[in-house]
Amino acid sequence: EKRLKHLMQEAHQLASKLYQYVLTETPYGVDAMKYLTQRGMSMKTVSEYQIGFAPDSWDFLTQFLKKRNFSLDVMVEAGLLAKSDGGKIFDRFRGRVMFPIHDSQGNVIGFGGRMLDTSQAKSQPKYLNSPESVLFNKSATLFNLHRARPYIRKKKQALLFEGYVDVVSAWQAGFTTGVATLGTALTEQQARIIRRNVDSVVLCYDGDAAGQEATSKAIHILQQAGLTVRVAPLPQGTDPDDYIRQHGADAFSQQVLLQAMPVTAFRLKHLRGQIVINDETDKARFIAKALEIINDLDSPIERDLYQRQLAEEHSLSLNDLKWESKRVFRQQ
Ligand code: UTP
Ligand code: MN
Ligand code: MN
Ligand code: MN
Ligand code: MN
Repeated sequence: EKRLKHLMQEAHQLASKLYQYVLTETPYGVDAMKYLTQRGMSMKTVSEYQIGFAPDSWDFLTQFLKKRNFSLDVMVEAGLLAKSDGGKIFDRFRGRVMFPIHDSQGNVIGFGGRMLDTSQAKSQPKYLNSPESVLFNKSATLFNLHRARPYIRKKKQALLFEGYVDVVSAWQAGFTTGVATLGTALTEQQARIIRRNVDSVVLCYDGDAAGQEATSKAIHILQQAGLTVRVAPLPQGTDPDDYIRQHGADAFSQQVLLQAMPVTAFRLKHLRGQIVINDETDKARFIAKALEIINDLDSPIERDLYQRQLAEEHSLSLNDLKWESKRVFRQQ
């Protein structure tokens, strides 16, 4: 298996170099380069992130690997190539902008390939990721960790994004502590990896329903790993990359990162979006739910602070609220 891993590793390294070459040095990369430039990516970023382009061909990488005497079946196992039901081997990534994914030592172990806006049918996924292999263990890998780790340790904080492009865009704007999961939900293993480097995380997921749901799930996993979590507020319908492009680095720092909320504040905000208050019954239900969230806090001081806020917000006496809180707690 060690030999197999080594071969796969070598092939990924070569493929990454080849895709970079196609993007930056050949006519096949012109459209992709235009696309990246239009997205605001600088040449420096493209080369730092070793971004490349897989040409729209069925056998470009296949031929390249064949010439270098790689076993094509091993390359299928590695996820660089794919095999049809009829046994025909072909390039997995075609007509896609390639984001190499590295292990924590900086070796390329997989790719995320983004289709160009119009080059492919809608039936194709926007991002195609390398499959799981002996080389690429998705649940134990974080995009950009090998670059961000020294900064994460120095700043004592990690930023967790949903997308590769969010990480890259933030990095280009000077936010160097970003990592992302690989198109899958955050795993316990990934949370433990973050915890080994730092004890505080800011979640910067997309400002949409999916992002909010993913945030709720990630909070739980990160807290279980012993991390202190805060949640950065993104305006509805934007993601960190959109935000940085529209409003710039300063605004991202001031209006998003510095506004990151403690988990309880985030959960209360989420609850406000879920329960529409039309009458006293709704209001009582909201308050009971809010008290449940507040009761989850370990610190009595924090619990008291949030209870005071809630009492004020709904013009209730703090005593009544505390009494209700005890009742709710017994039912929790
Ligand atoms: P998003 O849909 O938010 O993409 O998915 P994005 O990062 O904003 O990408 P752009 O700006 O449109 O280029 C977030 C992440 O989810 C995974 C990828 O890892 C992506 O970075 N994803 C998304 C997939 O794996 N497959 C998909 O088809 C879409
Ligand atoms: Mn999204
Ligand atoms: Mn997004
Ligand atoms: Mn995006
Ligand atoms: Mn609970």
